Amino acid sequence: MPTAAQSATPTRARKPAAKPTRAPRQQDAVAMLREDHKKVAALFDEYEKARSANVKRRLVESICAELTVHTTLEEDIFYPAFKAALKDKELVPEAKVEHQSVKDLIAQVRGREPDGEDFDAKVKVMGEFVKHHVKEEQNEMFPKATKSKLDLVELGRQMAERKQQLMAQ
Ligand SMILES: [Fe+2]
Ligand SMILES: [Fe+2]
Repeated sequence: MPTAAQSATPTRARKPAAKPTRAPRQQDAVAMLREDHKKVAALFDEYEKARSANVKRRLVESICAELTVHTTLEEDIFYPAFKAALKDKELVPEAKVEHQSVKDLIAQVRGREPDGEDFDAKVKVMGEFVKHHVKEEQNEMFPKATKSKLDLVELGRQMAERKQQLMAQ
């Protein structure tokens, strides 16, 4: 049964709870991707310093998981939007080739034992590929995206939603 107060104010929206709900923090797409880049670079740095196989195994798993989600978000959401908005015929195709090189290396290390110099070499080369690729995204692609008519906040929203799904898998 409605209380007197509720039935007395049929049109006015009820006051929101005093405690603020979580601030709607929607990062734009470029900020999200940059954050991922930073995170992965730090993981590669940690790998360089790591000595034990356990630590290396954990770091490689994190690197591969992060890169897999990141490249999927770019390939499925960011790159197609960028390509369409900028009529790009160069940056996105090149970026996808670079992603493929990284994925080939991921396939060679993921779930394997970090058992020596050959393994370390693969991780190192992967780190170098990623560094080069990130530089191109940040120096060429992202500035163009920022200056374009792309709705980066909306793209960020789509990417955040997709990321949650991918992380849950
Ligand atoms: Fe990329
Ligand atoms: Fe990226």
